[in-house]
This record gives sequence, structure tokens and C-alpha cells, in this order.
Amino acid sequence: MDKNAKVIAIASGKGGVGKTTVTASLAQALAERGNTVLAIDGDLDFRNLDLIIGLDGSFAYDLGDVALGNCVLNDAIYKSAFADNLYFMAGTVEGEAEKRVDSSVIGRLLDHLRPYYDYIVVDTAAGMGKSFELYTKNADTVIIVTTLYKPAIRDGEKIAAEIAKDGIQTYMIVNSLDERLIESKNAPNVDEIIDSVCVKLIGLLPCESRLIRWQNGGLSPMDRRCEIKTQIDDIAARIEGENRPLKKFWK
Ligand SMILES: Nc1ncnc2c1ncn2[C@@H]1O[C@H](COP(=O)(O)OP(=O)(O)O)[C@@H](O)[C@H]1O
Ligand SMILES: [Mg+2]
Repeated sequence: MDKNAKVIAIASGKGGVGKTTVTASLAQALAERGNTVLAIDGDLDFRNLDLIIGLDGSFAYDLGDVALGNCVLNDAIYKSAFADNLYFMAGTVEGEAEKRVDSSVIGRLLDHLRPYYDYIVVDTAAGMGKSFELYTKNADTVIIVTTLYKPAIRDGEKIAAEIAKDGIQTYMIVNSLDERLIESKNAPNVDEIIDSVCVKLIGLLPCESRLIRWQNGGLSPMDRRCEIKTQIDDIAARIEGENRPLKKFWK
């Protein structure tokens, strides 16, 4: 029987807050729960999810090639080594292809992919540019990622307000949470962040000093024993309708 993928766009106002990390980890967690998952790198200019999701970058086709007819859609979809039923597509579009890809093209692309996957998780580019426009407007759910950094929170507020206009289901992840910063009043607490961004919280992720080493080495935090894995597994369960109370990972 055909599937009907739920499209989840991972977005943020500010760059560098952890969208790519969340996309790769959440897609892997959902795949490990038995779903067939496609992770799309929705950045139209710079591809980087491939490096973080277990592909070595040696692949031939991206969305631009599909748009130009250089290949069929299936040729641009690659299997990730991180989970059995986890797939990846690069959304880069260059030159002539860029003019051809608009919101209705992405809408049709997603409609075409939906019957083959349970989830399509899209790593969008920061801000409210074309990547945001193309993917968040075509998503069933948007997850906004922020950190404790005030500019990231304010930018998150701005994109949350923009998404609210379309009435799309929206959640928030607070990443790189450092409780010491909150306790010493050097950062807003989680309730204050929820009050500012006005979006339902779906999870909190701790600062993990080993993360960059793992990612640079082509490893996934989901295959390590770490708190990011525990928290992402809970977020995946919540997305699938399970009631998992927030676990405090700080003392
Ligand atoms: N929870 C975390 N703890 C520590 N470092 C993190 C965490 N999340 C992300 N990072 C690091 O922050 C940088 C940006 O993360 P990335 O996922 O690429 O963000 P974005 O896609 O929003 O630009 C990377 O070096 C990544 O390793
Ligand atoms: Mg990124």
C-alpha cells in the first residue's frame, strides 16, 4: 500500500543553531523506529547534510539535475549508511535550474515522493529566503531550532510569526542548552524562550562537546552513547504521537 509521508521542515532564523544536526539525527531516529525516511538538504546553494548523514559526498545528481532533466528523480536519491531505510537527496540547484524551481515545483516533487516514504525531513537554509519559502510552505510540520543565544531566539520569533500566517503545525527545539548559563542568569530560561517564540516545545538538546569530532569523522551522535541520542529518540517518539515527558538532563 502507498505511504503518505509527513513532511517536516527544520528551520531557524539564525544560522549555526543546529538544524543540520537535528535533521540528520531526527531522520535517523525515525528510520530506526521502522519508518522509511528521506532527508532532503533544502539549502539551494550549499550542500552539507550529506556529510552529516553518512554520505561521503561522492554522488552525482541533485535536485537541479532532476529539474533540468539530466536524471530521473530516483537517481538523485542516495542511501545513508546510518540506517537501513534512511535516504538522502541534495536540494542544490544551480544556474538555469534555479529559475525552474519554485514553490509549485517543490509541492509537486513532495507529492510525488510522499507515497514512498513515511517521513520526509527537510534541512532548510537559515532565514526567510527561497529555501524557507519553498519548503516550509509545503511542509506539514515545521520545527524551529534555536539556542540560548538572544539573536537566535529573536530570529526564531520572527520566522515563527511568518509560519503562523500559514497555519502550519509548528514546534520548537532548544539546542545547545547549557543549564549553568541559565542558572547564572546569563541566558533566558526555557519558559522565557517559549514565551518569546510562542511555539510549542518538542524537545531540548544539551551542549555536546564531542559532537563536532564525531561529525567531522563521519559518525552520527545517534550511534554514540550520549544525551543527544536520548533526547532525539524522545522527539521522534513525540512526533509519532507517544507521550514522552521531557527528561531533565542537567543536575
Ligand atoms: N548540541 C550541540 N552541542 C554542541 N555543538 C553543537 C550542537 N548542535 C550543533 N553543534 C555544532 O554547531 C555547529 C553548527 O551546527 P549545524 O547543525 O551545522 O547548524 P545549522 O545547520 O543550523 O547551521 C556544528 O559545528 C555542530 O557540530
Ligand atoms: Mg545547516
